[in-house]
Amino acid sequence: MKKIIDNAIEYIKDFFASDFTGHDFQHSMRVMRMATEIAGVEGADIFICQLSALLHDVDDRKLSPHTSENLDNARAFLVSQAVAEEMIEKICSIIKQISFKGTDSVVPDTLEGKCVQDADRLDAMGAIGIARAFAYGGAHHRAMYDAEIKPSLNMNEQEYFASEGTTINHFYEKLFLLRDMMNTECGKRIAQHRHDYMMDFVNEFLKEWNG
Ligand code: ADP
Ligand code: NI
Repeated sequence: MKKIIDNAIEYIKDFFASDFTGHDFQHSMRVMRMATEIAGVEGADIFICQLSALLHDVDDRKLSPHTSENLDNARAFLVSQAVAEEMIEKICSIIKQISFKGTDSVVPDTLEGKCVQDADRLDAMGAIGIARAFAYGGAHHRAMYDAEIKPSLNMNEQEYFASEGTTINHFYEKLFLLRDMMNTECGKRIAQHRHDYMMDFVNEFLKEWNG
């Protein structure tokens, strides 16, 4: 099992070699480490959590739109490692369930899915979350802030993915919502700290902006 995890790490290192939009190799590694920590507290299956975390972005709809429906990249990797069919289905269903889709987001139906979803979302929060949001905004030519463009709350999946707002709006449209979407006690505790830190940052940003 250790060998499969090592191979997954090598696989994603190559896969994300040229991504600078916040979906990089180190994001997946942080999600794996956080998922391992949460899984340890929750008593979830560590191997399933680690493998799902490592592979969760290889079929992301933004990076790999033609494989995102059936998770072809994740499946091909798992098949190449002779992972059992039942385990492949479990990992793919976790990957499908964890992503943020506005009001269409789902609560994973397995403990492992809950741990990995919390870990992925925690990495969009706090200091790293702030850095990722601005890295994403820059890569997509978004303005940092524009007082004329108001955030849209309660967006569904389609509206959320079509949204082209400013990076500060992204805090209201996603990042500030994550704390109350945590599944595990451990996730909730870490999320509270990271939430407060982001709130301080946005308050300070707006104070400076408005003189
Ligand atoms: P994941 O599902 O891995 O959390 P996403 O695909 O939603 O990630 O986004 C990757 C990173 O880019 C996250 O940190 C997210 O907050 C950030 N991001 C996504 N959309 C935007 C946006 N419109 N503006 C700023 N940052 C964004
Ligand atoms: Ni992610």
